[in-house]
Amino acid sequence: MISAQLLYQVSGLNFSYPGSSPALQGINLEVYQGEFLVLLGVNGSGKTTLLGLLCRLLEPLEGEVKLYGKELSRYYGDQELYQLVNLVFQEPNDQLFCTTVEEDVSFGPRNLGLEEAEIERRVSTVLKNVGLEGFRHRCIHELSFGEKKRTALACALAMGSKTLLLDEPTSGIDPVGASEIFQMLREYNRQQDMTVIMATQDVDMIPVYASRVALLSKGELITVAPVKELFENPQLLRESRVRLPRVAHLMEVLEQEEGVGSKPYPLTIGEARRQLVDIMKNKGLENR
Ligand SMILES: Nc1ncnc2c1ncn2[C@@H]1O[C@H](COP(=O)(O)OP(=O)(O)OP(=O)(O)O)[C@@H](O)[C@H]1O
Ligand SMILES: [Mg+2]
Repeated sequence: MISAQLLYQVSGLNFSYPGSSPALQGINLEVYQGEFLVLLGVNGSGKTTLLGLLCRLLEPLEGEVKLYGKELSRYYGDQELYQLVNLVFQEPNDQLFCTTVEEDVSFGPRNLGLEEAEIERRVSTVLKNVGLEGFRHRCIHELSFGEKKRTALACALAMGSKTLLLDEPTSGIDPVGASEIFQMLREYNRQQDMTVIMATQDVDMIPVYASRVALLSKGELITVAPVKELFENPQLLRESRVRLPRVAHLMEVLEQEEGVGSKPYPLTIGEARRQLVDIMKNKGLENR
């Protein structure tokens, strides 16, 4: 459930990598406890950079990031921060550094000083949740790419933080597996009040799982809006080279080319089904 508690307050944030043009410019963003916020934008739009700034992997050039009202760069010790926020890297090889799945997943919790029984409980729970039961003793370098992505996700979940930052966690994961991971994250989000901030290219999944979307383009935050509101503005999305969910695109074509249906376009299969059934029923009545 989204609460009124402000989790992040990002203001006037500018960032450049050394010797490069700005990667993020003038970012102002508020994130509330319990949100499922998606960062959406084409390659190079600044999603990974923003996630890096939200967990202090990167430091702002200008502006500030506040977490629970306190500036991230000044007020939090490393251990304290790991208990509050964890990041799942876009590239799993950047995150995994131990020999086996178990060693990697237990590394963080052990560093937090947890007891062995609690570490064991967390490792077995998260491996089950990411679909890696039976992989515990496997060598990392013998995993497929998708299995490494799942291991990286397990590592972050095992930390037990209330905020999870995820950088395209389902890229390279098969479609059914990707749905399961979205589903699992939504359960953490709803049942454990975990805030999820996720960069993803998976536009079709957004209406099913996310609450708000931050649209980035060329290092600027174009808008932050509830999912429905964002997709009501296809023009804004197209200017940022982002497409509509496939279902909405179909309904847009049906309206514009066939005069069937109307705005706002349904965003999920369930919504489209209801709208199409209504249209067919009304046609049936007209034809009587
Ligand atoms: N280590 C780096 N050094 C220099 N420039 C970088 C570095 N990492 C990213 N950039 C640049 O910063 C900008 C934002 O990159 P970023 O990785 O944040 O984009 P992204 O939205 O995550 O893209 P993608 O969808 O490809 O993951 C891009 O112009 C990119 O070329
Ligand atoms: Mg990225």
